[in-house]
Amino acid sequence: MPLIPTSELVREACERHSAIAAFNVITLEHIEAVVRGAEEAGAPVIVQISENAVKFHAGRPIPLTRAAAALAESATVGVGLHLDHVTDMALLHQAADAGFSSAMFDAAHESYPDNVAHTAAAVRWAHDNGLWLEAELGYVGGKPDAPASAHTAGVRTDPDEARQFVAQTGVDALAVAVGSSHAMTTRTATLDHDLIAALAAAVPVPLVLHGSSGVPDEDLSRAVAAGIRKINIGTALNIAYTHGVREFLDHDAKVVDPRKYLSRTRTEMTGVVRHLLGTVGA
Ligand code: G3H
Ligand code: ZN
Repeated sequence: MPLIPTSELVREACERHSAIAAFNVITLEHIEAVVRGAEEAGAPVIVQISENAVKFHAGRPIPLTRAAAALAESATVGVGLHLDHVTDMALLHQAADAGFSSAMFDAAHESYPDNVAHTAAAVRWAHDNGLWLEAELGYVGGKPDAPASAHTAGVRTDPDEARQFVAQTGVDALAVAVGSSHAMTTRTATLDHDLIAALAAAVPVPLVLHGSSGVPDEDLSRAVAAGIRKINIGTALNIAYTHGVREFLDHDAKVVDPRKYLSRTRTEMTGVVRHLLGTVGA
């Protein structure tokens, strides 16, 4: 089936009192693993491409977005396509033409007034162009190449400020800092579930959890129960990818055909997607 708009996938998750999982992809094998894992779990999914991943592909989003659209076309579950962690307005302006139905505009490192002003401008542009827009308040932190910030990484989202931010910007979803951190390679983050519940009660839009690779399964389930409606996962796939390649090459020093080890790594990533979709709920 054609790509499903993110707005629809998130709305359905809200109606189910569940969450939609969104996986960050870098290569074609990542996309294949996300779609296959979602089919095996029987759950819809969002494929996310970050600004950094676009940069890795020489600033061109379309080779990956077309691959995602083609794989969605033959998928047995709904697949959405989201542009993640955008700071560059020029890239945001390419989003609709590139095939994205949504974007996360990232000004969380800025001061509150700057975050409001820049996010509100991004929302206006997004809505004029048919895109659903997510933004962040508080500062999840942990991105290796994060810009200099007005905040310390991990600064939690305040419910009153969140209510004000959503009203002032008109965002469609709010990414919140509640104890997770980007790029963790161990699942040792501790979430503040009371804060998630307070934020869910304070704002009229769905809440998004970033840095979910570092969150244990039980905490992910509890986060959904407390009100998280979109769960962003990236590093967990890259751990599986790299582990698969490393193990294969360690055991076969002569291999030169990348299909051999990429098959292995794609299977490992598929397993991670299937497991996490089972955890956060279909
Ligand atoms: O927006 C992307 C996510 O927040 C991914 O975070 O790589 O730590 O799972 P993660
Ligand atoms: Zn993130």
